[in-house]
Amino acid sequence: MAEETLVVRRIGAAAGAEITGIDLSHDLTNDQFAVIHQALLDHLVLCFPDQTLSADDQIAFARRWGDLAIHPNLAGMKDHPEIIAVERRPGDTGHLGSEWHNDTTSLEKPPMGTMMYSKIVPPVGGDTVFANQYAAYDALSSGMKDMLDGMRAVHGDSRVAGPRAGLNKRRTNKTDESDDWRETVNMHPVVRTHPETGKKALYVNVAYTLRLENMTTEESQPLLDFLYEHSHRPEFTYRHRWSEKMLVLWDNRALVHLALNDCPTSHRLMERIQIRGDRPF
Ligand SMILES: [Fe+2]
Repeated sequence: MAEETLVVRRIGAAAGAEITGIDLSHDLTNDQFAVIHQALLDHLVLCFPDQTLSADDQIAFARRWGDLAIHPNLAGMKDHPEIIAVERRPGDTGHLGSEWHNDTTSLEKPPMGTMMYSKIVPPVGGDTVFANQYAAYDALSSGMKDMLDGMRAVHGDSRVAGPRAGLNKRRTNKTDESDDWRETVNMHPVVRTHPETGKKALYVNVAYTLRLENMTTEESQPLLDFLYEHSHRPEFTYRHRWSEKMLVLWDNRALVHLALNDCPTSHRLMERIQIRGDRPF
């Protein structure tokens, strides 16, 4: 059989490319990986349809990008602690990641990327929406850019875990809500520089950002609310429709995303791996 040709095709205006002509269950050559790596930097969301992948295959592909992250608040699969089964069952009224966020920015070194492999996809609904944070930053006025320059924000995980989060009764994915849970808090720049492209991206999100450095929550909120709304203006977004056996990889350093809460009667099951990142600067 003739060797397939790897093809990168844009599927969204603000972000998103589909990659075909590759079987991710086999080891990639360095040339193939270089093309895919550049595609991630260019398009931020990569979608690989029709992939038949075991847990070990997913882990092997994820490791090409770096060390894997173990989630601080969610339990991994029994035999594969690096993989979280992201699941919504009929009757759940909520699910993981239904607010705009970059993944786990409460950490000192938040994951650079996230990989998700679809096992069960709702017949309609359950899309993931991404927003390009280079575009969000670029669209700010020069006055706002100057004001944000050097500003930092406090990020923590008290809205998504711990005894006050109150999420577990509504959803299948259980977060750590035990009494001995302790909040993880870290400071990150409001505008970060992507370590590989050198481009600037807006870096605050409604799920993890608590307040601005040296300000109270009340003082911070008006500016943060403006930035949250601005960050997902429609022209910055790419809405991803899933099909089964699709692998999607995205760059958390330059995107916010959410899982649409619009499929209350459906079953949705994904396997997710996070790749460790650097300290944002
Ligand atoms: Fe997420």
